[in-house]
Amino acid sequence: MQPWCSGASLTFREPRGDLMQLDNNDERIIAGEQGETKQKMLELLVALGKVFGAEQLVPIRSAQVSGASYKTIGEYGLQWLNTLDAKAVVPAILNPIGMPRERWQEMGISKDFAKKQQAVVEAYARLGIALECTCTPYYLRETTYGDHLAWSESSAVCYANSVIGARTNREGGPGALAAALIGKTPCYGFHLAKNRKPQVAISVKADTAKWSTADYGALGYHVGKLVGNRIPYFTGIHPEPDGLKALGAALAATGAVALYHVEGVTPEVQKNHYNVAGLETIPVEGTEVRKLFKECPVEAVALGCPHCSPEELAIIARLLNGRVVRKPLYVFASQGVIVANQETVDAIEKCGARVFADTCMVVSPVMEEYNGIMVNSGKALAYVPDMCKSPARIGTTEECLNVATE
Ligand code: F3S
Repeated sequence: MQPWCSGASLTFREPRGDLMQLDNNDERIIAGEQGETKQKMLELLVALGKVFGAEQLVPIRSAQVSGASYKTIGEYGLQWLNTLDAKAVVPAILNPIGMPRERWQEMGISKDFAKKQQAVVEAYARLGIALECTCTPYYLRETTYGDHLAWSESSAVCYANSVIGARTNREGGPGALAAALIGKTPCYGFHLAKNRKPQVAISVKADTAKWSTADYGALGYHVGKLVGNRIPYFTGIHPEPDGLKALGAALAATGAVALYHVEGVTPEVQKNHYNVAGLETIPVEGTEVRKLFKECPVEAVALGCPHCSPEELAIIARLLNGRVVRKPLYVFASQGVIVANQETVDAIEKCGARVFADTCMVVSPVMEEYNGIMVNSGKALAYVPDMCKSPARIGTTEECLNVATE
């Protein structure tokens, strides 16, 4: 018996003909005893479980809820949120929204958009979702190996599964919200050890000793297109956590990767000693990664996709070294990381850059004003052309800062 089943009084019910284990409290929720919202949310989780063959629900340590920017959910999404009436029962955090909550005017957000975005934020606040608005919840909420989660932003999911060794599927916004309100998620997919084994080997043949996070982002951009939704097992690379973050974010953007392993680096590899001998092996040369670093005209530079870590903020401040920024330079990080690193942030802003919380270059409508955006992220390289209607160029953080200050 799994630990989350022990002690509970369990019954089996057959929603729509399928077997799903529910405890007494779940039964009461399904019967509507805790209100219509929770009833509907649990029905949604049970229906998801049915589709994916889950036999039970698993309690989660936290939820991360996407569908937060008014730019992406629009009026219908807002109306739906306003019909809900319940509170999150586990720590739950919101994905980036379309503007910094405190500094939206400074970012050039229109009053109309700000009003709608504020309404979305208020709806989530009523539901008990923490308004930290970030794709890097792992910097703000303790998340450890083996934790079950219901996270929805693709880079956060990839980081949680791969770098931390926690367990989450790539939830849709409503599924993650339902899990936050119920405190459980259907136990299938990446919640089960049997589904976490490598499915394709990626042999990187490059001198990676001096690779930056942008190189790892570009590697993820390239490999994501080759592997689709399979679980890759990398050899030949030794990224630090920020490199792993960049790699996973890009794998999830050009592919649908929610979990990857790196030999000698990621935690499940150390514990499981996966045998990859019989897997398809895809070789990747350094030149294939480097050729993504093409030049194009740049009107603005945007860093922090996913949101910056304290170390990335420190690198930006050190590389800027007091130089004056001459092109718009946006840096994105969570409010919690900004507050904890205020001196570093002040040093960056003193040069003329702006460090914004709550939002990012992809979900904010402001970035659509630029024709040519330079980034240091493989994920942003993949998303900016469609989401911001702008050509995107990838460079290292140093190259980005040189372009911003030239
Ligand atoms: Fe995060 Fe926005 Fe990038 S949500 S991963 S900064 S596209």
